[in-house]
Formats: sequence, C-alpha cells, structure tokens
Amino acid sequence: MILVTGGAGFIGANFVLDWLAQSQEPVINFDKLTYAGNLNNLTSLREDARHIFVQADINDGDILKQLLQTHQPRAIVHFAAESHVDRSIHGPAAFIETNVNGTFSLLEAVRAYWQNLEDDKKAAFRFLHVSTDEVYGSLEANDPPFTETTAYAPNSPYSASKAASDHLVRAYHHTYGLPTLTTNCSNNYGPLHFPEKLIPLVITNARAGKDLPIYGDGSQVRDWLYVSDHCAAIRRVLEAGRPGETYNIGGWNEKTNLNVVHSICDLLNELQAKPTGSYRDQIRHVKDRPGHDKRYAIDARKIERELGWKPAESFETGLRKTVSWYLANDAWTAQVLSGEYKNWVNLQYQEKN
Ligand code: NAD
Ligand code: TYD
Repeated sequence: MILVTGGAGFIGANFVLDWLAQSQEPVINFDKLTYAGNLNNLTSLREDARHIFVQADINDGDILKQLLQTHQPRAIVHFAAESHVDRSIHGPAAFIETNVNGTFSLLEAVRAYWQNLEDDKKAAFRFLHVSTDEVYGSLEANDPPFTETTAYAPNSPYSASKAASDHLVRAYHHTYGLPTLTTNCSNNYGPLHFPEKLIPLVITNARAGKDLPIYGDGSQVRDWLYVSDHCAAIRRVLEAGRPGETYNIGGWNEKTNLNVVHSICDLLNELQAKPTGSYRDQIRHVKDRPGHDKRYAIDARKIERELGWKPAESFETGLRKTVSWYLANDAWTAQVLSGEYKNWVNLQYQEKN
C-alpha cells in the first residue's frame, strides 16, 4: 500500500492511473479536491478496490494519523500543492497554507507513524516529495541547465513555497532520519492537464476560437516533459533512489513559449483544420507576467546515470499525443470549463471515517 497526496490533480491522477496499470499494490489517494482536483480524472478506477479515495486536507493531522495507522503504507508520494504561478501572484496565501504548512503537517504525521514502525519497515519506508525546477530560479540564455547542486533562488510565491517545502523535507531527513526522496521536475504536459496552464489553455482556446495569450514577447524558455515520463521517473526514484537525495527530472526539451504555441497551432491545423486561416491567427501578445522567469532547463544526468531513467517521449511525440487526447476528450474539457466537474457526490467513492 502506498499513500499518494494530490492524486486527483494533473500529475497525481496520471501517476495513480499508471501505478495501478502496472502494479497490484493499492493506493490511498488523499486529495482535498480544490479547483484543481477532478474526480473525472479517475473515472476508470471507480469500481477498483485497489483505489481508496479520501477527500481531505493535508493540514488535517488527525485524518492523516488515522489513515496511516489503519492502512500502514510503505511509502508516501506527495503531489498535493497549489501549482499555478499566476494564481500565486494574485493570491499567495493558499500556497503558503498548502505547500508550506500542509507539507509540514504531512511530515509531522508521517514522522510520528514512521518512528513507531518495526525496524525492517522503518528502513524500507520512503517519503517522496514531488517538487519543481522553479526552486532554482531563472537562467540566462547561456547558463548551463540546473543540476541538483544549483543554489535555490525562487522568484514567484509558488516557487518560494515549493522551495520552503523542499527545505522542510531535507530537514526531516537530516534531523530525524526520515527516508526522504525529493524530485525537482521541469514543466509537465499531457492528458488531464487543467486548462489554465499554457499548453492545455492554448489547445482549448484555439478550438473555441478564442485568443491565444502570450505573455510579453514569448521568448521565455521552458523545458517540457510528457507527464507519463515524469510518472515513470517518480516510480524509479521510489524504487531505487537513495534516501536523502534529490533528483532532477527533465526531458532535454527547451522551447520558447512562442515555439510551443506555434507547434500546437500547427498540429491543430493538421488534425482539425479551421474552415479558413490558421490557428496561429488567434495568437495575441499580452502584458507580461510580473517577475516572469526567463528560462528553466534541467540537467537530468544524475537520474539517468544512477537510476537508468530516460524519457520515452520527445516533445514532438508527446505534444501530438496531448493534442490528440484533447481532441478525443471534449467531455472532460467541457465539464472543467462549465464547473460541472465539481458536482461529484458519490459517497461510495470516499472512505468513511
Ligand atoms: P494540480 O494543481 O493539477 O493538482 C494538485 C492536486 O492537489 C489537486 O488534486 C488538489 O485538489 C490537491 N490539493 C491541493 N491542496 C491540497 C491540500 N491542502 N490537501 C490535499 N490535497 C490538496 O498540480 P500538478 O500540476 O498535478 O502538480 C502536482 C505536483 O507536482 C505539485 O507538487 C507541483 O508543485 C509539482 N510539479 C508540477 C509540475 C507541472 O508542470 N505541473 C512540474 C514539476 C513539479
Ligand atoms: P505555465 O503553464 O503557467 O507554467 P510555469 O509558469 O510554471 O512555467 O506557463 C508556462 C509558460 O507560458 C510561462 O513562461 C508563462 C507562459 N504563459 C503564457 O505566455 N500565456 C499563458 O496564458 C500562460 C498560462 C502561460
């Protein structure tokens, strides 16, 4: 049994689905269901006894304590977070509450549980903290990519809150010996991505005939990784990562935002052409994001060298899969855009306390 936090969100849901497709080991999925949590992501697991869904906040130490005692997981994979930089600029409080205080609350509950395990279970236990490359700050065009020893220099409330959580995880390893693993991954994309982030927003807006907003001149660079490659990397780190270590995860796919948006438009032109013109005609340059980080890039040689992980998808193959997924899953997007995805009431789906 493993316990996953944030497993109804974009990466967490992809992880839970991948996990249960490859393993018989059950998953407790612990998620508050904020705006970013969507049970439609997990419809295929509704009748699956290996998936136990619990709607709760990681700040609720009592529920965490009770769950850990009842289910005795051998590992925690911690995805739950507020994850959108723009939201962190407009309202940072939720980011401190979940990413900092919530991670602290989770670490405290896990420490109490872990300390009382028998020696062999204690040694085998893992707490895997899922973090971001944004904690390293911003690169200039000629800087080498971030390595695991790059100094932290977070620039947004989001990245600052994730950096704080990374430091707490590090401290729990050094102070208490908790067998932690931290992964710092680059920008993900793929199925089930909430259409507020660049790639799903552009796909969704393009198809709705809306503007495709590019912040500033669109020259900012992100290093894109297809979500199932991230999930495979996390599984590998959980299996063979060394406690106390951090692992950078990335796909060696640096692209400017303008380049990404052009690629999406060109794929849509190919797969679902407009009656006239190109989707590129919908591109609009808008006011830049305050404090916009210029460039992120990940040096992923440590995880490749030590754990043998490499991404399976290139940006071209991953983006084609992503655009095709959105074209084939209109109902998912429609329910997100209408807010209907929040109307789930299905007690059978939730663990009763
Ligand atoms: P997401 O916003 O899509 O999902 C977050 C999930 O966490 C949601 O299901 C939400 O309901 C849940 N959640 C939020 N607050 C909670 C709380 N207080 N208690 C319990 N559950 C709560 O995020 P994502 O894009 O899937 O990112 C998952 C993790 O990966 C985050 O920790 C993020 O920092 C990290 N990450 C994301 C990316 C990316 O490109 N999306 C890249 C690197 C790392
Ligand atoms: P985003 O998907 O929000 O991820 P992050 O800020 O964590 O990297 O944004 C990716 C890049 O795209 C970032 O440089 C901001 C830019 N962007 C736009 O140009 N327009 C948009 O509408 C959005 C949401 C992002």
